[in-house]
Amino acid sequence: MLSYLHGFHAGNHADVFKHSVLTLLLETLTTKPKPLTYLETHAGAGIYDLTSEQARKTSEAADGIKRLWARRTEFPELAAYFNAIAALNTTNEIVRYPGSPYFAQAGLRNFDQLILMELHPTEVQTLRHHFNHDARIHLHQRNSYEGLPALLPPTPSRGVVLIDPSYETAIEVRQVAATVLASYQRWRSGCYLIWYPRLGVQRDQANQLLSRLLRQVPTLLTAELWVRPQTPNFGMCGSGLAVINPPWQFELQLQALLPRLAAVLSIAPLKDAGWHVEWRTGTTA
Ligand SMILES: C[S@@+](CC[C@H](N)C(=O)[O-])C[C@H]1O[C@@H](n2cnc3c(N)ncnc32)[C@H](O)[C@@H]1O
Repeated sequence: MLSYLHGFHAGNHADVFKHSVLTLLLETLTTKPKPLTYLETHAGAGIYDLTSEQARKTSEAADGIKRLWARRTEFPELAAYFNAIAALNTTNEIVRYPGSPYFAQAGLRNFDQLILMELHPTEVQTLRHHFNHDARIHLHQRNSYEGLPALLPPTPSRGVVLIDPSYETAIEVRQVAATVLASYQRWRSGCYLIWYPRLGVQRDQANQLLSRLLRQVPTLLTAELWVRPQTPNFGMCGSGLAVINPPWQFELQLQALLPRLAAVLSIAPLKDAGWHVEWRTGTTA
C-alpha cells in the first residue's frame, strides 16, 4: 500500500526538525576530507510546491518552515538549511520547499555520492526529473526494506543513512527495526538516522521502535521535538530521530538548537511544547 504522499506535509514541524538536524549532521561529517556515501531509504519527491493543491489542503508549512523562516536570523547554525531553501525560491516568500534528497545534494561535496530509494511511481518520476543530471546521485525504484541491506556496505564506506518511513501500516515499525538490524550487521560503522512520529500520550509506536532498536545496537542517541500537548486522538504532536553512531558530541549541537526550535514552532502555549536529547543504552551493551 502506497497511499502516503509527502506533498501534503512538506515543510511541517516534523520536516523542519528532521531537515535541520540532517543538515547539521552533514555539515559536521563533511568537515573531514574523507569522501562520504549518503543513503536514503524513503526519498519522496525531492522538491515540493507549497502552492500545490496538496500543500494548500493542509497548510502544514504555515506552522512549520514559514514560522522558522521569519525568525531565521536567530539561528545562525542553520545557515546551510536556510541557504538550500533560498536556492529554490526567488523571493522572500517560500513557494518551493526542499525534501531531504535536496538538502543532502546541497550539503555534499563533488567527491561524495548519494543513493536514493523510493517506491512510489509518481514520486520516483519527480525525483528523476529533479536529480537525474547529477552524476553523484544513484536513484533506485525499490522497496528499501530489502534494498538497504543489499546495498551495504557502501563505497566509500564512511557515510550516513536516513530512514524516513511514513509508517502507513502497523507492521512498519517491525520492518524498520529488521532493516536496521540487517543493515547494521553488514555496516557497523555507518551513521543511521531513523525518523519516527510522536503520536498521543502512549507513545506506543515510538517506544516499540526504540526498544526494538536497542535490542540490536549498544547505544543510541534520541532527539525529540513536540509542538503541542500529547493528547489522545490528536494525531502527530511531534517527532523524533534515533541516531546510531552520531558524530562526536553531536548531542551538544542538538541541545543548543532544540529548545529554541521548540519555542518558535510551539503551537500551544510554550509549556506544552518541548524537546529532549538523550543517550540510551541497548540491552546488548
Ligand atoms: C515521509 S516520505 C519521505 C520524505 C522525504 N524523506 C523528505 O524528508 O523529504 C516517505 C516516502 O517513502 C516512500 N515509501 C514507502 N514505502 C517504501 C518502501 N518500502 N521503500 C521505498 N520507499 C517507500 C513513500 O512513497 C514516500 O514517498
